[in-house]
Amino acid sequence: MTNDLQKAALGARSRAYAPYSHFLVGAALRSGSGLVFTGCNVEDISFGLTMCAERVCVVKAVEQGETTFEALAIVADTEQPIVPCGACRQVLAEFAPNLVITSWTLSGQSCEFSLHDLLPLPKQGILQVPRGT
Ligand code: THU
Repeated sequence: MTNDLQKAALGARSRAYAPYSHFLVGAALRSGSGLVFTGCNVEDISFGLTMCAERVCVVKAVEQGETTFEALAIVADTEQPIVPCGACRQVLAEFAPNLVITSWTLSGQSCEFSLHDLLPLPKQGILQVPRGT
């Protein structure tokens, strides 16, 4: 079964720039106002500066003024659906700590996750004013 968000993620995957890993990922993020922002992974020779598909969606959306999100679809060619890396979980949780994430394989297998389960307490204790200041 396919849906709009999954199709958008699949289209984005075809534009992945992954000459180093050859692992192509596409993602699509639906904002609170119903707009869809797509992303693909973008690598460079340092590899450490790679942008995952999920984070690309977020930065594109925020630059367009969207800061609330309802659903994320991810597509990759794996046996089992992939889950976002830790860095992407933190960035997604900045805006949508309870985001619903559906991850698809190219063969059509899917898994649904709540970002809350993947990254509980995403902000507790971070950048708080230290006690006594
Ligand atoms: N990648 C993503 O874009 N999203 C994920 O959820 C997993 C990993 C990318 C980063 C890198 O370009 C390649 O996949 C291999 O890790």
